[in-house]
Amino acid sequence: MRAPIAVALDAPDAETAALWARAVTPHVAVVKVGLELFCRTGPSIVDSVRGGSGADLFLDLKLHDIPNTVAGAVRSVARLRPRYLTVHASGGADMVRAAVDAADGVTIAAVTVLTSLSAEGLDAVGLAGPPLDAVRRLASLAVGAGAGALVCSPQEVAAVRAEVGPGVVLITPGVRPAGADVQDQARVATPEQALADGADLLVIGRPITGAADPGAAAASIAASLPRS
Ligand code: C5P
Repeated sequence: MRAPIAVALDAPDAETAALWARAVTPHVAVVKVGLELFCRTGPSIVDSVRGGSGADLFLDLKLHDIPNTVAGAVRSVARLRPRYLTVHASGGADMVRAAVDAADGVTIAAVTVLTSLSAEGLDAVGLAGPPLDAVRRLASLAVGAGAGALVCSPQEVAAVRAEVGPGVVLITPGVRPAGADVQDQARVATPEQALADGADLLVIGRPITGAADPGAAAASIAASLPRS
């Protein structure tokens, strides 16, 4: 059984992304293509990383626009058959609902609050108060509008699970094996802790793709996870 890990293929080019995908997909359930790679290569990247692996694709485009435009964008990429597609919950309930209605079987994953935003940064954009309050509020708004998944930091995942209950897929970036370099991630947790706190899918990038042998790194993290 493949581990509940989405490997972030934040590669400089399509060839590297495909190489990493081939190495990790025997061990992990999902590969994630982000905005930078998608913008550089276009939709063809989806088939080249999925290949014949049978892994699911997480298209992390973090859409945020008026409902009609987001619905059109969702329809455009839904034909690529990603398993998950991200939108910003802060686009509002009508926008999330428009994405869900256009998704045609793709699970819409709503990003609550970017982990790069500090309390001061949130305050500056008009979201005063503890970041966790905004996370909870946006999680509940997105799920109420039909989102089937949420993206949140592993340090917020327990509170989000308490807020939305079971049945919503919780996806957490900012995951680092014990002792690994945290790089630019501010609020991290180990894979074991994130799962224990209620995460369903762990987004892990550089600890795997930056290793000398990404396949071996993915296998080792996968083997360390408790079996459900
Ligand atoms: O290399 P690393 O494990 O830090 O990669 C994490 C991935 O998750 C990156 O693709 C990053 O863009 C994404 N992500 C994140 N924090 C969020 C949302 C997405 O780190 N709040």
